Amino acid sequence: MRFFAGSDHAGLALKLHLVTWLRAHGHEVDDLGTHDGASTDYPDWAARVTDRVLAEPGTFGLLVCGTGIGMSIAANRRIGIRAALCTDSFTARMARAHNDANVLCLGSRVVGVGLAEDIVAAFVAGSFEGGRHAGRVAKLDA
Ligand code: RB5
Repeated sequence: MRFFAGSDHAGLALKLHLVTWLRAHGHEVDDLGTHDGASTDYPDWAARVTDRVLAEPGTFGLLVCGTGIGMSIAANRRIGIRAALCTDSFTARMARAHNDANVLCLGSRVVGVGLAEDIVAAFVAGSFEGGRHAGRVAKLDA
């Protein structure tokens, strides 16, 4: 899978860990920033990542901030983005299976590194079931 990753300062360390994890598991990741710990605004990074996901269909986003909430709110303002804030692997799997999520949001102050890896693993292993879910997902952008 091809990912675009982004974080604010609060999510930087976890994002860097997960970028490494994704690459080690065979995925392609462009880390769009932030690249340092200076205080920065999560909507800017959500916009940067979702711009690329929308421009390149079939790609995915990974967004990390302190809670994941700001990133998910910002990302979901974009038509065509289905961002899922996940705190467990079941939700991450279902976000792909039922919601065809194309952006995964995580809170670095909410989940530890091990749980975050499990969540990302479930997200990348999941796949959209289509069927009755396809019409529901289509209504999101109607
Ligand atoms: C930054 O302190 C924090 O507010 C931000 O990372 C995020 O949690 C917002 O939703």
